[in-house]
Amino acid sequence: MNFFNNLEELPPDPLFGIQRAYEEDKRPTKVNLSIGTYKTDELKPYILPSVKRAEEALFQQEMSKDYLPILGLHSFIQGTKELIFGKNPSDIFGAQTVGGTSALCIAANLLYKAGHHKIYISDPTWGNHPHIFKEAGMEVERYHYFDKIKPFESMEEGSVLLLQPCCHNPTGCDYSKEEWVELFEIIKTRKLLPIFDIAYQGFGDGVEADAQVVRNFADLGLSFMVAASYSKNFGLYRERVGAFFMKHHDVKRLTTQLSMAIRGIYSNPPAHGAEIVAHILMTAELKKQWLFELEEMRKRILSMRGLLVRELKGFEFMLEQKGMFSYTKLKREQVLSLRDEFGIYMTLDGRINVAGLNPKNIGYVSKAILSLRRHDE
Ligand code: LMR
Repeated sequence: MNFFNNLEELPPDPLFGIQRAYEEDKRPTKVNLSIGTYKTDELKPYILPSVKRAEEALFQQEMSKDYLPILGLHSFIQGTKELIFGKNPSDIFGAQTVGGTSALCIAANLLYKAGHHKIYISDPTWGNHPHIFKEAGMEVERYHYFDKIKPFESMEEGSVLLLQPCCHNPTGCDYSKEEWVELFEIIKTRKLLPIFDIAYQGFGDGVEADAQVVRNFADLGLSFMVAASYSKNFGLYRERVGAFFMKHHDVKRLTTQLSMAIRGIYSNPPAHGAEIVAHILMTAELKKQWLFELEEMRKRILSMRGLLVRELKGFEFMLEQKGMFSYTKLKREQVLSLRDEFGIYMTLDGRINVAGLNPKNIGYVSKAILSLRRHDE
């Protein structure tokens, strides 16, 4: 008896599949603009010095490897709440999660159990978004991101939607302040439930500015959910540290549901990444250092985007984009040509990780892109 005959073979994950192909590419001129991890000017992974300092302190202080509570480390949750909401409101409650992905899984779990089986997600979006909600049994409906707020006007009352409050992945194009105000008005009148996925706080206009959309929405007093990630702004990708929050008047009842959902998925979260974040956020001097390092990452990305566009006539639209990613508007066939002919790797939708550029490879990348255009002419 074969219990798994009905499970077909699937293609590799789009993003990690590209990463693997890049690693296997033997060409010395290859360039990795695919997976969203920050790289230094020398294109090396970056462990933030503030993170290293926190780890050293924690190593000395650590007294226990016992389980964390189901909802995670209290100081981490408090610190994260203040970072996102600018304060610590009591009707917003949540939990430490295993990266931003499991925060989204928890959102999906609670929504499904509460009878909300459909979610609206932008097209394009982060490749994993539809997958996460489908895995949870939800129906995923897509709306055209570049139609701005128009699609929301016709959504059924009570719909659930996923929004990225800053540094939209994959486009880097965010709604303007005025568009967010209009969108909030629609959410209010049509009684929609937004989930804010905030994975790049600090990479757009800065830590405070990037949280403003969520803060403004929280001030309206309406229900919402938040999935947050510390992969990028603390560089803690492999530690899997994130947070889930929701606003609801019945904190007591819903906290029991939240605890039960987590207990059934991963029981309780891992400590290391959350302890690093909590230690940095709670230690004034370290927090200052971290904010400086984050700002340096943001500025390097900004300057690489500027340098690239200087070389790429006709791509000035990219200067408006924010965060780690830029949408090049290159077509799938062009992306594949760049990979095959030049060893330049990006996602098939034409997204580049700007942090994969440095002053040495920008000339090579821009020439390759411009040569494609000539092919097309
Ligand atoms: C990305 O979009 O490249 C990152 O968020 C990495 C991932 O897990 O997909």
